[in-house]
Amino acid sequence: MKKKIIIAIDGFSSTGKSTIAKLLANTYNYIYVDTGAMYRAVTLFAMNNNLVGKDFLEKELLVSSLKNISLSFKINKKLGFAEMFLNNLNVEKEIRTLEVSQLVSKVSEISEIRKKLVAEQQLMGNKSGIVMDGRDIGTVVFPNAELKLFMTASADKRATRRYKELIDRGDNISFDDILFNVQERDRIDSTREDSPLVKADDAIEFDNSDMGIKEQFDRICALVERRIT
Ligand code: DC
Repeated sequence: MKKKIIIAIDGFSSTGKSTIAKLLANTYNYIYVDTGAMYRAVTLFAMNNNLVGKDFLEKELLVSSLKNISLSFKINKKLGFAEMFLNNLNVEKEIRTLEVSQLVSKVSEISEIRKKLVAEQQLMGNKSGIVMDGRDIGTVVFPNAELKLFMTASADKRATRRYKELIDRGDNISFDDILFNVQERDRIDSTREDSPLVKADDAIEFDNSDMGIKEQFDRICALVERRIT
């Protein structure tokens, strides 16, 4: 019998973490958790309740509203992966807009929010056999994860990928706005006080600026195999 492990994937935005995570989850029959979706759903809640905007953040009100935020993942059988539900409403599409991307890093800086989401993430992982991606998985959520990956790529490559994704789904956006957002999120995510994005000492770094999905996936599978057999 192969061992079930925790695979923690951290890294900058749009480095293809979720693509690799989904492939791993399908291959090994693991649960996949996209923790960025959870921070995005809290941001959407804050936007819908006028608690965050371009020039303001009602931190105290948002923290006191946390008890009214219920997050869950439900499998979409047709697509084969889980979608994000906020208070029982499917928000998978709404959380991927540029507007949410522009506000999410600001909301993610709040320690009380991080505390709630980290606790929920740790509960999901208590059975192992899980692939989780985010910014603090190998450092804070699962410091004992058996395999930790840290993904990077140039800002230009990442913005190009994200731009294509949003254009393909019909959003009307400019490349420059996406590039600015990618760089701005890098800055806020890596410099915040509470659990900043840093590579865990024992994480294996992948710069995939010039590496295709197949090559990355094959290399990562070899790392997984070494840990489960
Ligand atoms: O992975 P993503 O781009 O969908 O994440 C959106 C934002 O959520 C990211 O810019 C920072 C925040 N985030 C975080 O602070 N901690 C995590 N574990 C995951 C995401």
